[in-house]
Amino acid sequence: MHRQDHAPTADLPSKPTPLIRLIDVDKSFGPQKVLDSFNLDIHPFETTVVLGPSGTGKSVMLKHIVGLLRPDRGEVRFDGRRIDLLNERELKSVRLQVGLLFQMGALFDSMTVQENLEFPMIEHTACTASERRDRATVALDMVDLSGVQDKLPSQLSGGQKKRVALARAIVLQPRVVLYDEPTTGLDPIRADGINELILKLKRKLRVTSVVVTHDLVSARKVADRVVMLLGGRVIADGTYDQLEKSADSHVQHFLRGQYNREEDTATESLSVAQKPPLSEAVQ
Ligand SMILES: Nc1ncnc2c1ncn2[C@@H]1O[C@H](COP(=O)(O)OP(=O)(O)OP(=O)(O)O)[C@@H](O)[C@H]1O
Ligand SMILES: [Mg+2]
Repeated sequence: MHRQDHAPTADLPSKPTPLIRLIDVDKSFGPQKVLDSFNLDIHPFETTVVLGPSGTGKSVMLKHIVGLLRPDRGEVRFDGRRIDLLNERELKSVRLQVGLLFQMGALFDSMTVQENLEFPMIEHTACTASERRDRATVALDMVDLSGVQDKLPSQLSGGQKKRVALARAIVLQPRVVLYDEPTTGLDPIRADGINELILKLKRKLRVTSVVVTHDLVSARKVADRVVMLLGGRVIADGTYDQLEKSADSHVQHFLRGQYNREEDTATESLSVAQKPPLSEAVQ
């Protein structure tokens, strides 16, 4: 069930070249090693769901894909190009191709929905005001929202905020969308609405998606492939059905929601004395 992909060679029929590769990545914060010889290939046009206990490094892994964090060792590749060595200016061209839905939504509270959506266009494009308006409308249509342009985030429900954040993540028409717990905190109906959107964006925009989630209903619904992280590595890799049949006890505990102290990375990380506070703006 484990899959180690390599670039296709001329004489071997093979899967398409991975769009994103993390190769032998180590990442520590102080004494705490979060990623440990971590390997993952993300294939184009697929939806890869990433599961794993809290504190196991899922958000840290996503941040490596957009250069918000850099590995201590190893490589991160995007479309064949090594990106972990790029400077901020060079990273811009990568970030333009990747829409990131942050774990906490991260809308600007003092800006209206319209201003939130226009922000990436003002930052990254030469679009005129009317082009920005049109693109914002298209993005809001895509997430099935209308009539909220002039509202502030505080005037929206949790589900609406997620949709606006998603509209903002796709407003530059990225090739890749990274979702960090897109359904967390939503009721099952709203959560299913987000699942439908993930499927719709894949179908209509042909995006490559990476979905970090604890929501097994969502994982089953949106995943072409599921990987499970534990101890800084991928411990299982396959379809959701294959994972369900896995003999690995860690996988079984996670899928059945059975607590096992040994696997509790959150408890483990709390026991690391004087751990530095989170310095990232996004979590
Ligand atoms: N910038 C940082 N500085 C120090 N420690 C960090 C930083 N970012 C993450 N960590 C630590 O790395 C570990 C993994 O964090 P991460 O946010 O990736 O977990 P996660 O798998 O996304 O968890 P959750 O499911 O709760 O979101 C945690 O112990 C966290 O405290
Ligand atoms: Mg996280």
